[in-house]
Amino acid sequence: MQPDDKKRNAAKAALNYIGDNTVLGVGTGSTVNHLIDLLPGVKDRIRSVVSSSTATTTRLEELGFEVSLLNEVGDLDLYIDGADEANKHLQLIKGGGGALTREKVLAGAARKFVCIIDDSKLVGMLGKFPLPIEVIPMAQSFVARKLAKMRGQPVWREKFVTDNGNHILDVHNLVISNPMEMETRINQLPGVLTVGIFAHRPADVLIIGDDSGIRVIGK
Ligand code: 5RP
Repeated sequence: MQPDDKKRNAAKAALNYIGDNTVLGVGTGSTVNHLIDLLPGVKDRIRSVVSSSTATTTRLEELGFEVSLLNEVGDLDLYIDGADEANKHLQLIKGGGGALTREKVLAGAARKFVCIIDDSKLVGMLGKFPLPIEVIPMAQSFVARKLAKMRGQPVWREKFVTDNGNHILDVHNLVISNPMEMETRINQLPGVLTVGIFAHRPADVLIIGDDSGIRVIGK
C-alpha cells in the first residue's frame, strides 16, 4: 500500500472520535489534509473548528467551514493531528510543516489528542527525524550554539517564516533517549518558543495506517 493510502486510512479512522457537538482542533500536514477532505461528511457533528495554521484555515474555509479562534471556544473536545515521528509511548516529534507552536497549544487545550500517521513514522527512539525548534529570529545563532553543545547539528530552515513570524532550526543527530527531559531542557533555552518534542503532552490515541489497514494504540 502507498504511504498516501495509509495516511488516508488513518484519517478516516479518526472520524470515529468525532462525537456529537464536538469542538474540534485540526492540525497541519498531508495526513491531516486527508482528514480535512473528509470533514464535510461529518459537519453536522462539529460545533466549532479551530485551526493550527494558516494553511489548514485556508483549506477548511475552502470547504465551507467557519474557523473559530481558540480564545473564542475555550478547551477543545478533540484535537486531530499528524506527526513526523511517534514512539510506542505516544510521544511525538512534530513541526516538519513548521506549525509546531500552534499545534502544541491546541494539543494542550484538548481533552483528547488523536494522532494519525503511516507506519513509516513509528520508531523505537525519537530523533532520526531532525527535531524542529521554533526560535525568535534574534536568538537563532545563540540557540544554535547551545544545541551544538548538546551534540546536535542545527540547520536553519532557510526562507521559511512561521505563522508567528519566527524561524525554525532543524536539529540533526540529537540523541533523544529521554523525550520529557529533552523537551524541558530545550524549552528552557532563552529564545526558544517551542520545541517539536511532544512528550509532556503526548497523544492519547495513535492511529497507524499500515499494509493491513489500521492499528490503534491508546484509547
Ligand atoms: C506540521 C506537523 C505535521 O503534523 C507533521 O509534519 C506531519 O506531516 P505529514 O502528515 O505531512 O507527514 O507537525 O508542523
